[in-house]
Amino acid sequence: MLEAMEGPASTRGGGVAGVAPAAQALEEHVRSFERAFGRGGSVRAFFSPGRVNLMGAHLDYNGGPVMPMAIDRGTFLAVRERSDDQVRLRSTSEEGEFRFHLASPPASRAGRWSDYPSGVIRGLAVRGAGRGLEILFGGNLPVGAGLSSSASICVGTAFALDRVWDLGLGPHERVQAALDAERGFVGVLCGIMDPYAVGLARPGHLLWLDCKDASWEHLPIDPGVARVAVADTLVRRELAQGAFNQRVEEASLAFRGLRRHAPEATCLRDVGLEVLERHGGDLEPTLRARATHVLHEVRRTFQAREALLAGDLPSFGRRMLESHASLRDLYDVSVPELDCLVESAAAESGVLGARLTGAGFGGCAVILLERGAEPALDRVRERFARRFGREPRIELFGGDSGPRELATSES
Ligand code: GLA
Repeated sequence: MLEAMEGPASTRGGGVAGVAPAAQALEEHVRSFERAFGRGGSVRAFFSPGRVNLMGAHLDYNGGPVMPMAIDRGTFLAVRERSDDQVRLRSTSEEGEFRFHLASPPASRAGRWSDYPSGVIRGLAVRGAGRGLEILFGGNLPVGAGLSSSASICVGTAFALDRVWDLGLGPHERVQAALDAERGFVGVLCGIMDPYAVGLARPGHLLWLDCKDASWEHLPIDPGVARVAVADTLVRRELAQGAFNQRVEEASLAFRGLRRHAPEATCLRDVGLEVLERHGGDLEPTLRARATHVLHEVRRTFQAREALLAGDLPSFGRRMLESHASLRDLYDVSVPELDCLVESAAAESGVLGARLTGAGFGGCAVILLERGAEPALDRVRERFARRFGREPRIELFGGDSGPRELATSES
């Protein structure tokens, strides 16, 4: 029997194709857990959202501000404690099981999805807590689409362990556990945006996160006025991780080239635009282009914040379009499929703005539109299909309140 503790992730928004109703999806997930690990005992179910980033592209690892929003798509975790210290991890989307003992957790990554939760479990097990676990991961968040499935898994795992092992962690400690796992164990050069966006979410709000000092606040965005759609090109680039790491490296080289003219600067974000204008010519052209994106994106993101606070969503949307052009021309992380989605969305009345979200190199575009303008999305879909011979996946997303326990099932 499934006993609900809190309203599960809803599929608010109507017109959403292909998403199972949340309560049903949750029940199915618990049934899959029982098929995978057997019945019996108490199975606890958790949800952890993904995120879209509306402004501040490729700024987190440059110390700049970002404006992400947690979304009502994410990871389901079904968890059962064991009487010994074995950990067994499975996923609904991949065959096989990954096992280890808490007394001897994996010392290094295995190069597979289970590295993410293993890294979190390894980090939190040193707190001397709990017993072994069986965990089944699943959900409705596409992997590799730029919607931060990895932060969703890591923060969700930290949240579930906190509850099951009764660790008494606060939201920041869970975010930190996720970051430590991704950076220290999986070895991704990621910035801080994703786990913060997931772990500190508040519905009806964007998170304003200044990645220089990790200060943050929630900024309201009224879903009754503006809606967020995510358009997935379904393009997945095998080499996206390498290309992302290359951008991180280029930004760092650009900073090294400019910092002697900006002695106070501790990160690229701190370098003034006037320094770039005066000394950018000393940089190799690629590095100059990367720095130009970063410094203008910082300014645009502050302008977008002002626009949002003033209720001027058209101005916010224009900043998104400028951001996309800069990501395409200067940061070189777009692909023709993303450009097509953004350009055809921008041509529609009622669409406020659009740009690629996440790292780029494929994945998704985020579209901000006025409530009532939803039919525009059908035309965007048709134009894409005419050009590329297949349909993108375009859905309206609601905001989300962050990781939570949904239900306990006794069998
Ligand atoms: C990826 C990373 C984030 C951020 C974005 C670009 O999604 O995980 O930390 O750098 O790219 O804004």
